[in-house]
Parts: sequence; C-alpha cells; structure tokens
Amino acid sequence: MNVAIVGASGAVGQEFLRILAERDFPIDNLVLFGSTRSAGTKYTFKGKEYEVKLLQHNDDFKDIDVAFTSAGGGTSKEFAETITKYGAVMIDNSSAFRMCDDVPLVVPECNAEDALNRPRNIIANPNCTTIMMVVVLKPLEQLSHIKRIHIASYQSASGAGAAAMEELKQEYKELVNNEPVTVSKFPHQLAYNVIPQIDVFTDNGYTKEEMKMFNETRKIMHSDVRCSAMCVRVSSLRSHSESVWIETERPISVEEAQKAIAAAPGCTLKDDPANLVYPMPLETAGKDDVFVGRVRKDLADDCGLTFWLSGDQIRKGAALNAVQIAEYLHSVGNLK
Ligand SMILES: NC(=O)c1ccc[n+]([C@@H]2O[C@H](COP(=O)([O-])OP(=O)(O)OC[C@H]3O[C@@H](n4cnc5c(N)ncnc54)[C@H](OP(=O)(O)O)[C@@H]3O)[C@@H](O)[C@H]2O)c1
Repeated sequence: MNVAIVGASGAVGQEFLRILAERDFPIDNLVLFGSTRSAGTKYTFKGKEYEVKLLQHNDDFKDIDVAFTSAGGGTSKEFAETITKYGAVMIDNSSAFRMCDDVPLVVPECNAEDALNRPRNIIANPNCTTIMMVVVLKPLEQLSHIKRIHIASYQSASGAGAAAMEELKQEYKELVNNEPVTVSKFPHQLAYNVIPQIDVFTDNGYTKEEMKMFNETRKIMHSDVRCSAMCVRVSSLRSHSESVWIETERPISVEEAQKAIAAAPGCTLKDDPANLVYPMPLETAGKDDVFVGRVRKDLADDCGLTFWLSGDQIRKGAALNAVQIAEYLHSVGNLK
C-alpha cells in the first residue's frame, strides 16, 4: 500500500512511524507531510530516510491508498478534499469530522464495520480518552446495557502534543533552578499541579473535551448512554488514566466484569489490590492495551460498577487505533 502521514513531526505522527514499523504494515511507498516548520526534515522508517514534504493543494495524494492525518482540525478540514479526491482513505485524528453523519467514527474493537460506510472517504478516529473508555465498556455492554457513565480523567501532558510534553519538562527544570516558569501550551503551570480544564469551555459549563466524551461514546457504541465527564490535566508525561462509574440495566458482579474485561480484545486486567497491582501511566506508556484495575461495586448505586483504567493515548488513543482501522480495511479487501 502507498501510505501518507500528514503531521509526521508531531507526537502522533512520530508514533505512526513506530507502529507501522512494529506491526509490519504492508507499505510499498511512504510519504510524509508537514507544514513549512518541518518540511525538509528527515525521519527514518525501517532503516530508510524519508523527507517531510510540504502539504499543499496539488496531486501529491493521487497514488496514496491510506492517509493518516494528525495535523489538527483546521488542516484536516482544509486538506480533506485534496487528500481524498483520487480515492485515498483519510483516517483522521482530529475532531474536525467526528460528529458528521457522513463520516464513520471507529474503534475497531467496538464498531469496525462502520468504517465500510464512508461516503466522503474519511474515517474519524475518536477522541483519545473516549477510545480508551469504550474499549473497556464494550465487553460490559454485552453483559448488560450501560445507561449512564460518570468519568473523571487524569490526562497526561502529551495529550496536548509534542511541544506540551517539552513544556512540562522545562517547567520542572525552571522550578528547580528558581527561574520564571514557562506557561504557553497549558492554561496554567502544570508542574506540581493539576488543571481541571482540557480544551475550551462550552455554553453548558463543560469543556469541549468533556462534550466529546458525551457525544462520541453514543456514536461509537450506537447507544443512548449518557456520559458525564470531568476531564483533568495531570503532570504525567504520557498515558491517560480514567476513573469510570457505570450504571447498567441489571447489576453486574465484580467477578463477571473482571472476566469479561480480561477476555476482551485490547484490554488487560491488572486488578490485584492486595499486592498493590493496578494500572499506572508510568507502566502503561508505550503499551498497546488499555489496562484496567480497581473493579468494584459502586457503593452509591445497586446497578453501578466502578473501575480505573490507564492506557497510552498516543498509541491506542490515536496512532494505533488509526492503524488498526487501516488493517481492518485491508483484511476485508476494502481499500482502493
Ligand atoms: N497527542 C495526543 O495524545 C492526541 C491523541 C488523539 C488525537 N490527537 C490529535 O492529533 C492531532 C495531532 O496531535 P499531536 O499531539 O501530534 O500534535 P503536535 O505534536 O503538536 O503535532 C502537530 C503536527 O501537525 C502538523 N501541522 C500543523 N499544521 C500543519 C499544516 N498546516 N500543514 C501540515 N502539517 C501541519 C505539524 O507539522 P509541523 O511541525 O510541520 O508544523 C505537526 O507534525 C491533533 O488534531 C490532536 O488533537 C492527539
């Protein structure tokens, strides 16, 4: 296949290069794209150097089969037509098209077949926090319909991109050296802090990130579930974590839930509190699965269950999920 990565220099773009190599994705030609900032930069893929091309409105995508785009919503909107007009499938990591009726929103463990119906040849990769949650909700939904979800997220600095990761490291250095602290990528200093805001606020007092969790969960799961989220930035560097409370139609026991999660694709159960075993971002960073622990009955709700999850949002929450979508399309012979 001929593959393009748009936004190759970014946190997600760099992960695409690692994942495509690790999974031995069948690539004949690879083309990297970026803005004027990274055009000309060289990256190595499977021992060969590739130079980033400037993304422009031309015929560069004519021979491309799959374009993985992770260059922000504005770039995706501006270049979608250029990328898809000759039949390339655009698998987009931004939020630009996620809630469009004619764009499927896909997490392969939940709704892979939705990717087959794509009138605009665009498939949207969901919000990272949502992807990791629905991978765990899927096996629980099969036990009993989930009516309500409450979730509090603990999102790492890298969720805001490569420069944000560097800013957090720089903040710690500046604090140690008694220097003024750089605050540019986050609304406040993140070092030694937690920030109860991710993305901008909407009219109802929730942030856009929180509303993505409400809307995208329903679209991916084809469900009327209501999801009330509180999304918080913490000072871990990589991997998001989430506390999730669900209310199901019939009560699910802890043992039933643990068994279903342990058997589900994309999930690893790590739940042995007596031995201090539960997932943490330091350990889940760089891994593919979503890790789940602290599975308990919700003391405030007879039909409630609560658990903790942690997973690498640059992998399963972004690049890995997109590559899995392409792998699915390839496996069913659904690429041009
Ligand atoms: N980080 C995460 O955990 C995560 C998870 C899920 C989804 N996403 C989404 O993925 C996208 C990228 O996120 P990121 O974290 O990788 O951000 P990032 O590290 O800031 O990287 C942004 C990338 O976009 C490229 N870009 C920006 N404007 C461009 C333009 N006009 N033309 C071509 N390329 C352009 C940049 O290239 P230059 O260096 O050349 O400017 C860079 O490669 C965003 O939409 C984000 O919401 C991120």
